[in-house]
Amino acid sequence: MVGKEKKCIGIIFGGDSNEHYVSICSAKTVFKALISNENKKKFLVKAFYINKKGVWFDHNQSLSILKENNINDTSAKYQMFPKEEINFLNKIEFQNVDIWFPLLHGLNGEDGAIHGLLKFTQKPLVGGGILGSALGMDKILMKKILSHLEIPQVNYLAIQNQDLSDDNVKNNLSIEIIEKLNLPVFVKPANSGSSLGISKANNKSEIFKALKKAWEIDSRIIIEEGLDIRELECGIIGNLKLSASEIGEVSYSTDWYDYDSKYSMENQIIIPAEIDYQISKQIKDIAIRSCRALNIYGFARVDFFLENISKKIFLNEINTIPGFTSTSMFPMLWNASGLNIDQLVAKLVDISLDL
Ligand SMILES: Nc1ncnc2c1ncn2[C@@H]1O[C@H](COP(=O)(O)OP(=O)(O)O)[C@@H](O)[C@H]1O
Ligand SMILES: [Mg+2]
Repeated sequence: MVGKEKKCIGIIFGGDSNEHYVSICSAKTVFKALISNENKKKFLVKAFYINKKGVWFDHNQSLSILKENNINDTSAKYQMFPKEEINFLNKIEFQNVDIWFPLLHGLNGEDGAIHGLLKFTQKPLVGGGILGSALGMDKILMKKILSHLEIPQVNYLAIQNQDLSDDNVKNNLSIEIIEKLNLPVFVKPANSGSSLGISKANNKSEIFKALKKAWEIDSRIIIEEGLDIRELECGIIGNLKLSASEIGEVSYSTDWYDYDSKYSMENQIIIPAEIDYQISKQIKDIAIRSCRALNIYGFARVDFFLENISKKIFLNEINTIPGFTSTSMFPMLWNASGLNIDQLVAKLVDISLDL
């Protein structure tokens, strides 16, 4: 840690995103870690809650959410202010914060929005910058860049600049998809999260419906060949030098990892994943190379598919503000790699000063 004085860490959480509540849970975990016996000697915390309408709340109000057990009840009290009536940063005191720790998952945060805003404060932040965050969030641009590096990815088609409100356009695209890709396909909004807006489609009429659903979330859409897979994840931390964690596997009983199964208590996380040493090494190497290529640093979780038949690895996606709840993969991966949650959070703060 640079200097002797305690550093004030500004946690930002909540936000106008479909991962609002996960963000509150992540912030609770990070807050607890920052005020642990060891860390409270080094850190003070300021909390900034953003409600679902994008309104910011001051430290005391935000702290009450972090300290409350029943998140739904407490945060419900803060949803009522219409954005138009107040300046969204009114009365928010940024001055005392030394280092930002944004925990806004998904849109309006993880996509680089919060990184851009915080840049104006000229303070370091835990995580990456605007560019890497935006690229990590955008499934089309991420894939296009990674294909130049020959990072293994599932076959895909990208749709953009087309008016999918027109049924003829959807119909023609459905035909093109069937001609170019093997069924089933996964149809995904380019920018979303938690599997929202994603469908698995087995024929033309399902593809048509899936395009309609994805279009409701994003005008940019990605279609992928659907494989029979195991799902493996790897944590990345670092700045000039990136380190990879152990590999974890998430296993679920549904056909694919959709919204409901993501938030079901029945999922199993297995760390380290039972895979060959060579596969594990390949995943770590690809995870680091991909983050480097997209200018992603600070922390990230890189998700992979391991195809059951071919035993081939494919990079699926990169999350630049991965879930940080007590049962999330990211802190569990690092725990298995020798950093408990308190040490991990302190390490991430140190990394943010390592520019
Ligand atoms: N090409 C594919 N083949 C098989 N399953 C897939 C494929 N693409 C997505 N899935 C399933 O859908 C889930 C969500 O897709 P993902 O691209 O990770 O979206 P999100 O960003 O919402 O997490 C994956 O975890 C996986 O279970
Ligand atoms: Mg995913």
